[in-house]
Amino acid sequence: MSLNIEEELNYIEKVKKINQGKNLKYLILTMGCQLNENDSEKISGMIENMGYTKTEDIEESDLVVFNTCCVRENAEDRLFGKLGEVKRIKEKRGTIIAIGGCMMQEKHIVEKMKQSYPFFDIIFGTHTLHKFPKDLYTKIFENKRIEDILDIDGEIIEGLPITRNDNIKASVTIMNGCNNFCTYCIVPYVRGRERSRNPEDILNEVRDLAKQGYKEITLLGQNVNSYLRSGNVDFDSNVKSFADLLREVNKIDGIERIRFISPHPKDFTDDVIEAIRDCDKVCKIIHLPLQSGSSQVLKAMNRKYTKEQYLNLVEKMKKMIPDIVFSTDIIVGFPGETQENFEDTLDVVRKVHFEQVYMFIYSRRVGTPGDRMENQIPEKVKHTRFDELKELVEGQISENNQKYVGTIQKVLVEGVSKTNSELLTGRTDSNKVVNFYGSEELIGNVVEIKIISEHMWYLKGEINRR
Ligand code: SAH
Ligand code: SF4
Ligand code: F3S
Repeated sequence: MSLNIEEELNYIEKVKKINQGKNLKYLILTMGCQLNENDSEKISGMIENMGYTKTEDIEESDLVVFNTCCVRENAEDRLFGKLGEVKRIKEKRGTIIAIGGCMMQEKHIVEKMKQSYPFFDIIFGTHTLHKFPKDLYTKIFENKRIEDILDIDGEIIEGLPITRNDNIKASVTIMNGCNNFCTYCIVPYVRGRERSRNPEDILNEVRDLAKQGYKEITLLGQNVNSYLRSGNVDFDSNVKSFADLLREVNKIDGIERIRFISPHPKDFTDDVIEAIRDCDKVCKIIHLPLQSGSSQVLKAMNRKYTKEQYLNLVEKMKKMIPDIVFSTDIIVGFPGETQENFEDTLDVVRKVHFEQVYMFIYSRRVGTPGDRMENQIPEKVKHTRFDELKELVEGQISENNQKYVGTIQKVLVEGVSKTNSELLTGRTDSNKVVNFYGSEELIGNVVEIKIISEHMWYLKGEINRR
Protein backbone atom coordinates (compact mmCIF):
# COMPACT_ATOMS: atom_id res chain seq x y z
CA MET A 1 0.00 0.00 0.00
CA SER A 2 1.41 3.40 -0.90
CA LEU A 3 1.49 6.43 1.41
CA ASN A 4 -1.12 8.25 -0.66
CA ILE A 5 -3.79 5.84 0.36
CA GLU A 6 -3.24 6.59 4.07
CA GLU A 7 -3.81 10.21 3.26
CA GLU A 8 -6.98 9.38 1.35
CA LEU A 9 -8.33 7.22 4.16
CA ASN A 10 -7.78 10.21 6.47
CA TYR A 11 -9.82 12.44 4.19
CA ILE A 12 -12.57 9.82 4.14
CA GLU A 13 -12.69 10.00 7.96
CA LYS A 14 -12.72 13.80 7.94
CA VAL A 15 -15.62 14.05 5.50
CA LYS A 16 -17.49 11.31 7.33
CA LYS A 17 -17.29 13.32 10.54
CA ILE A 18 -18.80 16.44 9.03
CA ASN A 19 -21.52 14.44 7.29
CA GLN A 20 -22.59 12.58 10.43
CA GLY A 21 -26.33 12.60 11.10
CA LYS A 22 -27.15 14.46 7.90
CA ASN A 23 -28.69 11.55 5.95
CA LEU A 24 -27.02 12.57 2.69
CA LYS A 25 -27.64 10.80 -0.62
CA TYR A 26 -25.50 10.29 -3.71
CA LEU A 27 -26.15 9.19 -7.24
CA ILE A 28 -23.51 7.81 -9.59
CA LEU A 29 -23.96 7.47 -13.32
CA THR A 30 -21.51 5.29 -15.23
CA MET A 31 -21.28 5.79 -18.96
CA GLY A 32 -18.47 3.50 -20.05
CA CYS A 33 -17.10 -0.02 -20.23
CA GLN A 34 -16.69 -2.61 -17.47
CA LEU A 35 -13.42 -1.00 -16.40
CA ASN A 36 -15.35 2.19 -15.86
CA GLU A 37 -18.02 0.27 -13.95
CA ASN A 38 -15.31 -1.19 -11.73
CA ASP A 39 -13.91 2.33 -11.14
CA SER A 40 -17.42 3.45 -10.21
CA GLU A 41 -17.61 0.67 -7.64
CA LYS A 42 -14.44 2.11 -6.06
CA ILE A 43 -15.82 5.66 -6.18
CA SER A 44 -19.04 4.39 -4.54
CA GLY A 45 -16.97 2.62 -1.88
CA MET A 46 -15.20 5.86 -0.99
CA ILE A 47 -18.41 7.91 -1.04
CA GLU A 48 -20.36 5.48 1.14
CA ASN A 49 -17.51 5.51 3.65
CA MET A 50 -17.90 9.29 3.75
CA GLY A 51 -21.48 9.01 4.98
CA TYR A 52 -23.59 9.10 1.82
CA THR A 53 -26.17 6.46 0.88
CA LYS A 54 -26.97 5.53 -2.68
CA THR A 55 -30.08 6.73 -4.50
CA GLU A 56 -31.36 6.34 -8.04
CA ASP A 57 -33.37 9.54 -7.77
CA ILE A 58 -31.49 12.61 -8.89
CA GLU A 59 -34.10 14.87 -7.26
CA GLU A 60 -32.99 13.83 -3.77
CA SER A 61 -29.23 13.70 -4.45
CA ASP A 62 -26.78 15.76 -2.43
CA LEU A 63 -23.88 14.55 -4.53
CA VAL A 64 -24.00 13.51 -8.19
CA VAL A 65 -21.02 11.79 -9.80
CA PHE A 66 -20.68 11.15 -13.51
CA ASN A 67 -18.10 8.58 -14.55
CA THR A 68 -17.70 9.42 -18.22
CA CYS A 69 -16.58 7.60 -21.39
CA CYS A 70 -15.26 9.03 -24.65
CA VAL A 71 -14.76 5.94 -26.79
CA ARG A 72 -17.47 7.03 -29.24
CA GLU A 73 -19.33 10.27 -29.82
CA ASN A 74 -22.63 8.94 -28.44
CA ALA A 75 -20.94 8.21 -25.09
CA GLU A 76 -19.93 11.88 -24.87
CA ASP A 77 -23.38 13.04 -25.88
CA ARG A 78 -24.84 11.22 -22.89
CA LEU A 79 -22.98 13.50 -20.50
CA PHE A 80 -23.95 16.71 -22.26
CA GLY A 81 -27.54 15.50 -22.37
CA LYS A 82 -27.57 15.12 -18.57
CA LEU A 83 -25.82 18.33 -17.56
CA GLY A 84 -28.87 20.57 -18.04
CA GLU A 85 -30.89 18.45 -15.62
CA VAL A 86 -28.08 18.51 -13.09
CA LYS A 87 -27.80 22.29 -13.24
CA ARG A 88 -31.46 22.57 -12.24
CA ILE A 89 -30.98 20.20 -9.28
CA LYS A 90 -27.94 22.10 -8.13
CA GLU A 91 -29.83 25.40 -8.20
CA LYS A 92 -32.67 23.81 -6.24
CA ARG A 93 -30.80 22.03 -3.46
CA GLY A 94 -27.10 22.87 -3.71
CA THR A 95 -26.14 19.42 -4.95
CA ILE A 96 -22.41 18.87 -5.41
CA ILE A 97 -21.60 17.93 -9.02
CA ALA A 98 -18.51 15.81 -9.68
CA ILE A 99 -17.47 14.63 -13.12
CA GLY A 100 -14.75 12.05 -13.63
CA GLY A 101 -13.57 9.38 -16.01
CA CYS A 102 -12.06 9.14 -19.47
CA MET A 103 -13.71 12.20 -21.00
CA MET A 104 -12.12 14.46 -18.41
CA GLN A 105 -8.68 13.40 -19.69
CA GLU A 106 -9.45 15.22 -22.96
CA LYS A 107 -8.27 18.83 -22.88
CA HIS A 108 -10.80 20.11 -25.39
CA ILE A 109 -13.63 18.64 -23.30
CA VAL A 110 -12.42 20.24 -20.09
CA GLU A 111 -12.24 23.57 -21.92
CA LYS A 112 -15.77 23.10 -23.19
CA MET A 113 -16.96 22.25 -19.68
CA LYS A 114 -15.45 25.44 -18.27
CA GLN A 115 -16.95 27.59 -20.98
CA SER A 116 -20.40 26.10 -21.36
CA TYR A 117 -21.08 24.18 -18.13
CA PRO A 118 -19.19 26.10 -15.43
CA PHE A 119 -21.49 24.94 -12.65
CA PHE A 120 -19.56 21.74 -11.91
CA ASP A 121 -17.80 21.48 -8.52
CA ILE A 122 -15.17 18.79 -9.10
CA ILE A 123 -13.67 17.30 -12.19
CA PHE A 124 -11.25 14.42 -11.83
CA GLY A 125 -9.50 12.13 -14.29
CA THR A 126 -8.69 8.45 -14.59
CA HIS A 127 -5.33 8.85 -12.83
CA THR A 128 -6.70 10.71 -9.81
CA LEU A 129 -9.75 8.66 -8.91
CA HIS A 130 -8.34 7.70 -5.52
CA LYS A 131 -8.00 11.37 -4.59
CA PHE A 132 -11.73 11.88 -4.71
CA PRO A 133 -12.10 12.11 -0.88
CA LYS A 134 -9.53 14.91 -0.75
CA ASP A 135 -11.24 16.72 -3.64
CA LEU A 136 -14.61 16.47 -1.93
CA TYR A 137 -13.14 17.66 1.37
CA THR A 138 -11.57 20.67 -0.34
CA LYS A 139 -14.82 21.46 -2.10
CA ILE A 140 -16.81 21.33 1.15
CA PHE A 141 -14.32 23.26 3.28
CA GLU A 142 -12.85 25.77 0.93
CA ASN A 143 -15.82 25.95 -1.38
CA LYS A 144 -13.65 26.12 -4.47
CA ARG A 145 -14.13 24.52 -7.82
CA ILE A 146 -11.67 21.66 -8.23
CA GLU A 147 -9.87 20.38 -11.28
CA ASP A 148 -7.85 17.34 -10.40
CA ILE A 149 -6.50 15.87 -13.61
CA LEU A 150 -3.08 14.38 -14.23
CA ASP A 151 -1.45 13.79 -17.58
CA ILE A 152 1.08 11.30 -16.26
CA ASP A 153 0.12 7.70 -15.59
CA GLY A 154 -1.34 7.27 -12.13
CA GLU A 155 0.05 4.64 -9.80
CA ILE A 156 -1.80 1.43 -9.13
CA ILE A 157 -3.64 2.02 -5.89
CA GLU A 158 -4.51 -0.90 -3.63
CA GLY A 159 -6.74 -0.95 -0.59
CA LEU A 160 -9.50 1.48 -1.58
CA PRO A 161 -12.92 0.65 -0.17
CA ILE A 162 -15.33 -0.75 -2.75
CA THR A 163 -19.10 -1.09 -2.99
CA ARG A 164 -19.95 -3.68 -5.62
CA ASN A 165 -23.06 -3.62 -7.81
CA ASP A 166 -23.71 -7.35 -7.61
CA ASN A 167 -23.25 -10.13 -5.08
CA ILE A 168 -22.74 -13.09 -7.43
CA LYS A 169 -20.56 -11.74 -10.23
CA ALA A 170 -17.58 -9.46 -9.65
CA SER A 171 -15.10 -7.65 -11.87
CA VAL A 172 -11.44 -7.50 -10.97
CA THR A 173 -9.23 -5.06 -12.85
CA ILE A 174 -5.84 -6.66 -13.45
CA MET A 175 -4.18 -3.84 -15.36
CA ASN A 176 -4.72 -0.23 -16.32
CA GLY A 177 -3.95 1.50 -19.59
CA CYS A 178 -3.10 0.37 -23.10
CA ASN A 179 0.04 0.48 -25.27
CA ASN A 180 -1.52 -0.51 -28.58
CA PHE A 181 -2.65 2.74 -30.15
CA CYS A 182 -5.15 1.30 -32.59
CA THR A 183 -5.60 4.28 -34.90
CA TYR A 184 -9.35 4.71 -34.23
CA CYS A 185 -9.07 4.51 -30.46
CA ILE A 186 -8.90 7.20 -27.77
CA VAL A 187 -8.34 4.82 -24.84
CA PRO A 188 -4.49 4.94 -24.76
CA TYR A 189 -4.65 8.75 -24.59
CA VAL A 190 -7.07 8.83 -21.67
CA ARG A 191 -5.95 5.77 -19.72
CA GLY A 192 -2.18 6.02 -20.14
CA ARG A 193 0.35 3.23 -20.58
CA GLU A 194 -0.06 -0.36 -19.40
CA ARG A 195 0.43 -0.92 -15.69
CA SER A 196 -0.12 -4.40 -14.28
CA ARG A 197 -1.29 -5.02 -10.73
CA ASN A 198 0.74 -7.25 -8.46
CA PRO A 199 -0.61 -10.81 -9.04
CA GLU A 200 -0.69 -11.43 -5.29
CA ASP A 201 -3.02 -8.45 -4.79
CA ILE A 202 -5.30 -9.78 -7.52
CA LEU A 203 -5.36 -13.28 -6.04
CA ASN A 204 -6.08 -11.91 -2.56
CA GLU A 205 -8.95 -9.88 -3.96
CA VAL A 206 -10.43 -12.96 -5.66
CA ARG A 207 -9.99 -15.08 -2.51
CA ASP A 208 -11.77 -12.42 -0.56
CA LEU A 209 -14.61 -12.33 -3.11
CA ALA A 210 -14.92 -16.12 -2.91
CA LYS A 211 -15.21 -15.84 0.87
CA GLN A 212 -18.00 -13.32 0.47
CA GLY A 213 -19.86 -15.81 -1.72
CA TYR A 214 -19.09 -14.50 -5.21
CA LYS A 215 -19.29 -17.18 -7.90
CA GLU A 216 -18.11 -15.52 -11.09
CA ILE A 217 -15.03 -13.39 -11.67
CA THR A 218 -14.32 -11.30 -14.75
CA LEU A 219 -10.69 -10.25 -15.10
CA LEU A 220 -10.50 -6.85 -16.75
CA GLY A 221 -7.93 -4.97 -18.80
CA GLN A 222 -7.71 -3.26 -22.18
CA ASN A 223 -5.40 -6.03 -23.34
CA VAL A 224 -5.36 -8.76 -20.71
CA ASN A 225 -2.94 -11.04 -22.48
CA SER A 226 -0.20 -8.45 -22.25
CA TYR A 227 -0.59 -8.62 -18.46
CA LEU A 228 2.92 -8.59 -16.85
CA ARG A 229 4.54 -7.97 -20.22
CA SER A 230 5.13 -4.24 -20.01
CA GLY A 231 5.96 -1.56 -17.46
CA ASN A 232 7.14 -2.38 -13.96
CA VAL A 233 6.51 -6.10 -13.48
CA ASP A 234 9.09 -6.92 -10.85
CA PHE A 235 6.74 -8.63 -8.41
CA ASP A 236 7.51 -11.23 -5.79
CA SER A 237 5.12 -13.91 -7.09
CA ASN A 238 5.10 -17.23 -8.90
CA VAL A 239 2.63 -15.76 -11.37
CA LYS A 240 4.64 -14.50 -14.32
CA SER A 241 2.05 -14.26 -17.10
CA PHE A 242 -1.66 -14.02 -17.84
CA ALA A 243 -1.75 -17.81 -18.33
CA ASP A 244 -0.27 -18.31 -14.84
CA LEU A 245 -2.87 -15.93 -13.42
CA LEU A 246 -5.73 -17.91 -14.98
CA ARG A 247 -4.35 -21.12 -13.51
CA GLU A 248 -4.05 -19.61 -10.02
CA VAL A 249 -7.52 -18.05 -10.05
CA ASN A 250 -8.87 -21.42 -11.20
CA LYS A 251 -7.57 -22.97 -7.94
CA ILE A 252 -9.61 -20.67 -5.69
CA ASP A 253 -12.41 -22.58 -3.95
CA GLY A 254 -15.89 -21.14 -4.24
CA ILE A 255 -15.32 -19.44 -7.58
CA GLU A 256 -17.24 -21.34 -10.26
CA ARG A 257 -16.66 -19.26 -13.37
CA ILE A 258 -13.86 -17.14 -14.73
CA ARG A 259 -14.18 -14.78 -17.67
CA PHE A 260 -11.80 -12.15 -19.02
CA ILE A 261 -12.00 -9.14 -21.34
CA SER A 262 -10.41 -8.15 -23.60
CA PRO A 263 -7.55 -10.13 -25.06
CA HIS A 264 -5.85 -8.87 -28.23
CA PRO A 265 -5.56 -11.39 -31.09
CA LYS A 266 -1.93 -10.38 -31.75
CA ASP A 267 -0.90 -11.41 -28.22
CA PHE A 268 -2.87 -14.66 -27.96
CA THR A 269 -0.01 -17.00 -27.13
CA ASP A 270 -0.31 -20.79 -26.82
CA ASP A 271 0.23 -20.79 -23.06
CA VAL A 272 -3.01 -18.82 -22.67
CA ILE A 273 -4.91 -21.23 -24.95
CA GLU A 274 -3.57 -24.15 -22.93
CA ALA A 275 -4.60 -22.49 -19.67
CA ILE A 276 -8.14 -21.94 -21.00
CA ARG A 277 -8.24 -25.60 -22.03
CA ASP A 278 -6.91 -26.91 -18.71
CA CYS A 279 -8.87 -24.68 -16.32
CA ASP A 280 -12.36 -26.07 -15.78
CA LYS A 281 -13.70 -22.78 -14.43
CA VAL A 282 -12.59 -20.65 -17.37
CA CYS A 283 -15.67 -20.19 -19.58
CA LYS A 284 -15.24 -21.56 -23.06
CA ILE A 285 -16.42 -18.39 -24.72
CA ILE A 286 -13.65 -16.05 -25.71
CA HIS A 287 -14.15 -12.42 -26.58
CA LEU A 288 -11.74 -11.94 -29.48
CA PRO A 289 -12.09 -8.42 -30.92
CA LEU A 290 -11.90 -8.57 -34.72
CA GLN A 291 -12.58 -4.87 -35.54
CA SER A 292 -12.38 -5.58 -39.29
CA GLY A 293 -12.10 -8.66 -41.49
CA SER A 294 -10.00 -6.87 -44.09
CA SER A 295 -6.22 -7.15 -43.83
CA GLN A 296 -5.91 -3.77 -45.50
CA VAL A 297 -8.19 -2.05 -42.99
CA LEU A 298 -6.57 -3.93 -40.10
CA LYS A 299 -3.23 -2.53 -41.21
CA ALA A 300 -4.62 1.01 -41.31
CA MET A 301 -6.11 0.38 -37.85
CA ASN A 302 -2.66 -0.69 -36.55
CA ARG A 303 -4.10 -3.98 -35.28
CA LYS A 304 -0.97 -5.98 -36.22
CA TYR A 305 -2.75 -9.09 -37.54
CA THR A 306 -4.27 -10.05 -40.89
CA LYS A 307 -7.58 -11.66 -41.75
CA GLU A 308 -5.76 -14.98 -42.23
CA GLN A 309 -3.93 -14.75 -38.93
CA TYR A 310 -7.20 -14.09 -37.12
CA LEU A 311 -8.93 -17.03 -38.80
CA ASN A 312 -5.92 -19.28 -38.13
CA LEU A 313 -5.99 -18.33 -34.47
CA VAL A 314 -9.69 -19.22 -34.27
CA GLU A 315 -9.03 -22.54 -36.01
CA LYS A 316 -6.13 -23.34 -33.70
CA MET A 317 -8.24 -22.61 -30.63
CA LYS A 318 -11.12 -24.71 -31.94
CA LYS A 319 -8.72 -27.59 -32.50
CA MET A 320 -7.22 -27.34 -29.03
CA ILE A 321 -10.57 -26.70 -27.27
CA PRO A 322 -13.36 -28.37 -29.29
CA ASP A 323 -16.33 -26.75 -27.51
CA ILE A 324 -14.96 -23.20 -27.62
CA VAL A 325 -17.07 -20.34 -29.02
CA PHE A 326 -16.34 -16.67 -29.67
CA SER A 327 -17.76 -13.21 -29.32
CA THR A 328 -16.28 -10.11 -30.92
CA ASP A 329 -16.25 -6.34 -31.53
CA ILE A 330 -16.52 -4.94 -35.06
CA ILE A 331 -16.21 -1.38 -36.35
CA VAL A 332 -17.78 -0.50 -39.71
CA GLY A 333 -16.85 2.52 -41.78
CA PHE A 334 -13.24 3.03 -40.73
CA PRO A 335 -11.56 5.59 -43.07
CA GLY A 336 -10.75 4.07 -46.45
CA GLU A 337 -12.95 0.97 -45.95
CA THR A 338 -14.15 -0.08 -49.42
CA GLN A 339 -17.19 -2.24 -50.14
CA GLU A 340 -14.75 -5.06 -50.86
CA ASN A 341 -13.03 -4.56 -47.50
CA PHE A 342 -16.40 -4.64 -45.80
CA GLU A 343 -17.24 -7.90 -47.60
CA ASP A 344 -14.14 -9.37 -45.92
CA THR A 345 -15.64 -8.50 -42.54
CA LEU A 346 -18.87 -10.27 -43.49
CA ASP A 347 -16.80 -13.22 -44.67
CA VAL A 348 -15.06 -13.60 -41.29
CA VAL A 349 -18.41 -13.31 -39.50
CA ARG A 350 -19.82 -16.10 -41.70
CA LYS A 351 -16.78 -18.28 -41.07
CA VAL A 352 -16.39 -17.87 -37.32
CA HIS A 353 -20.09 -17.92 -36.39
CA PHE A 354 -19.78 -15.70 -33.33
CA GLU A 355 -22.08 -16.17 -30.33
CA GLN A 356 -22.30 -12.41 -29.98
CA VAL A 357 -21.06 -9.45 -32.01
CA TYR A 358 -20.81 -5.95 -30.58
CA MET A 359 -21.12 -3.70 -33.64
CA PHE A 360 -20.00 -0.09 -33.81
CA ILE A 361 -20.13 2.64 -36.41
CA TYR A 362 -16.73 4.31 -36.67
CA SER A 363 -16.68 7.52 -34.64
CA ARG A 364 -13.95 10.13 -35.19
CA ARG A 365 -12.01 10.81 -32.00
CA VAL A 366 -10.02 14.05 -31.64
CA GLY A 367 -6.28 13.39 -31.41
CA THR A 368 -6.28 9.92 -32.97
CA PRO A 369 -4.61 9.14 -36.34
CA GLY A 370 -7.97 7.90 -37.68
CA ASP A 371 -9.46 11.35 -37.24
CA ARG A 372 -6.70 12.86 -39.38
CA MET A 373 -7.19 10.41 -42.26
CA GLU A 374 -8.61 12.04 -45.36
CA ASN A 375 -10.65 9.16 -46.73
CA GLN A 376 -13.52 9.30 -44.19
CA ILE A 377 -16.59 7.28 -45.12
CA PRO A 378 -19.91 9.12 -45.59
CA GLU A 379 -22.41 8.58 -42.75
CA LYS A 380 -24.95 7.07 -45.10
CA VAL A 381 -22.52 4.37 -46.29
CA LYS A 382 -21.52 3.59 -42.71
CA HIS A 383 -25.16 3.10 -41.75
CA THR A 384 -25.93 0.91 -44.77
CA ARG A 385 -22.98 -1.33 -43.92
CA PHE A 386 -23.93 -1.41 -40.27
CA ASP A 387 -27.46 -2.55 -41.15
CA GLU A 388 -26.12 -5.25 -43.46
CA LEU A 389 -23.77 -6.58 -40.80
CA LYS A 390 -26.54 -6.47 -38.21
CA GLU A 391 -28.82 -8.53 -40.40
CA LEU A 392 -26.16 -11.17 -40.92
CA VAL A 393 -25.31 -11.29 -37.20
CA GLU A 394 -28.92 -11.53 -36.06
CA GLY A 395 -29.57 -14.32 -38.54
CA GLN A 396 -26.59 -16.20 -37.14
CA ILE A 397 -27.63 -15.63 -33.53
CA SER A 398 -31.11 -16.96 -34.10
CA GLU A 399 -29.68 -19.95 -36.02
CA ASN A 400 -27.29 -20.51 -33.15
CA ASN A 401 -30.07 -20.26 -30.59
CA GLN A 402 -31.89 -23.13 -32.30
CA LYS A 403 -28.94 -25.35 -31.46
CA TYR A 404 -29.51 -24.74 -27.75
CA VAL A 405 -33.11 -25.95 -27.80
CA GLY A 406 -33.30 -29.43 -26.28
CA THR A 407 -29.83 -29.24 -24.70
CA ILE A 408 -29.05 -29.17 -21.00
CA GLN A 409 -27.07 -26.12 -19.90
CA LYS A 410 -25.34 -25.26 -16.67
CA VAL A 411 -26.84 -21.92 -15.64
CA LEU A 412 -25.47 -19.66 -12.92
CA VAL A 413 -28.64 -18.20 -11.41
CA GLU A 414 -28.26 -14.45 -11.02
CA GLY A 415 -31.62 -13.37 -9.65
CA VAL A 416 -35.28 -12.75 -10.33
CA SER A 417 -36.10 -11.58 -13.86
CA LYS A 418 -36.63 -7.82 -14.07
CA THR A 419 -39.61 -8.20 -16.38
CA ASN A 420 -41.42 -11.08 -14.65
CA SER A 421 -41.06 -11.62 -10.91
CA GLU A 422 -42.00 -15.29 -11.16
CA LEU A 423 -39.04 -16.08 -13.38
CA LEU A 424 -35.43 -16.60 -12.40
CA THR A 425 -32.69 -15.48 -14.73
CA GLY A 426 -29.13 -16.64 -15.21
CA ARG A 427 -26.47 -17.27 -17.80
CA THR A 428 -24.92 -20.23 -19.52
CA ASP A 429 -21.16 -20.72 -19.66
CA SER A 430 -21.40 -19.12 -23.14
CA ASN A 431 -23.06 -16.06 -21.56
CA LYS A 432 -26.58 -16.62 -22.97
CA VAL A 433 -29.41 -15.36 -20.80
CA VAL A 434 -31.75 -18.16 -19.65
CA ASN A 435 -35.10 -17.57 -17.92
CA PHE A 436 -36.95 -20.32 -16.05
CA TYR A 437 -39.38 -20.93 -13.19
CA GLY A 438 -37.74 -21.80 -9.88
CA SER A 439 -37.49 -20.81 -6.24
CA GLU A 440 -35.32 -17.94 -5.11
CA GLU A 441 -33.11 -20.25 -3.06
CA LEU A 442 -31.44 -21.19 -6.32
CA ILE A 443 -29.96 -17.70 -6.73
CA GLY A 444 -26.18 -17.94 -6.68
CA ASN A 445 -26.11 -21.61 -7.64
CA VAL A 446 -25.22 -23.36 -10.87
CA VAL A 447 -28.32 -25.28 -11.95
CA GLU A 448 -28.90 -27.70 -14.83
CA ILE A 449 -31.53 -26.25 -17.13
CA LYS A 450 -33.15 -27.88 -20.12
CA ILE A 451 -33.64 -25.31 -22.87
CA ILE A 452 -37.18 -25.39 -24.26
CA SER A 453 -37.35 -22.38 -26.58
CA GLU A 454 -35.29 -19.52 -27.98
CA HIS A 455 -36.21 -15.83 -28.23
CA MET A 456 -33.34 -13.97 -29.94
CA TRP A 457 -31.84 -12.28 -26.85
CA TYR A 458 -32.68 -14.99 -24.31
CA LEU A 459 -33.52 -18.66 -23.98
CA LYS A 460 -36.34 -20.19 -21.97
CA GLY A 461 -35.77 -23.33 -19.99
CA GLU A 462 -36.91 -25.57 -17.18
CA ILE A 463 -35.06 -27.19 -14.31
CA ASN A 464 -33.70 -30.53 -15.47
CA ARG A 465 -35.09 -33.23 -13.19
CA ARG A 466 -33.39 -36.50 -13.83
N1 SAH B 1 -9.39 -2.81 -25.34
C1 SAH B 1 -10.52 -3.44 -25.86
C2 SAH B 1 -11.76 -2.57 -25.96
C3 SAH B 1 -11.66 -1.17 -26.36
S1 SAH B 1 -13.08 -0.19 -26.51
C4 SAH B 1 -10.12 -4.06 -27.17
O1 SAH B 1 -9.10 -3.76 -27.70
O2 SAH B 1 -10.85 -4.89 -27.62
C5 SAH B 1 -14.34 -1.29 -26.99
C6 SAH B 1 -14.66 -1.32 -28.43
O3 SAH B 1 -15.10 -0.07 -28.90
C7 SAH B 1 -13.50 -1.65 -29.33
O4 SAH B 1 -13.23 -3.01 -29.38
C8 SAH B 1 -13.96 -1.11 -30.67
O5 SAH B 1 -14.68 -2.09 -31.39
C9 SAH B 1 -14.90 0.01 -30.28
N2 SAH B 1 -14.30 1.31 -30.60
C10 SAH B 1 -13.18 1.86 -30.09
N3 SAH B 1 -12.95 3.05 -30.64
C11 SAH B 1 -13.96 3.28 -31.54
C12 SAH B 1 -14.27 4.34 -32.43
N4 SAH B 1 -13.50 5.43 -32.54
N5 SAH B 1 -15.39 4.22 -33.18
C13 SAH B 1 -16.18 3.14 -33.08
N6 SAH B 1 -15.92 2.11 -32.27
C14 SAH B 1 -14.82 2.17 -31.50
FE1 SF4 C 1 -8.15 0.77 -27.94
FE2 SF4 C 1 -6.75 -0.95 -29.35
FE3 SF4 C 1 -6.05 -0.42 -26.84
FE4 SF4 C 1 -8.25 -1.80 -27.33
S1 SF4 C 1 -6.17 -2.44 -27.82
S2 SF4 C 1 -8.03 -0.09 -25.91
S3 SF4 C 1 -8.99 -0.89 -29.20
S4 SF4 C 1 -5.98 1.00 -28.56
FE1 F3S D 1 -13.87 2.43 -21.09
FE2 F3S D 1 -14.92 4.41 -22.42
FE3 F3S D 1 -12.81 4.83 -20.97
S1 F3S D 1 -14.76 2.36 -23.10
S2 F3S D 1 -11.72 2.91 -20.92
S3 F3S D 1 -14.82 4.21 -20.26
S4 F3S D 1 -13.20 5.68 -22.95
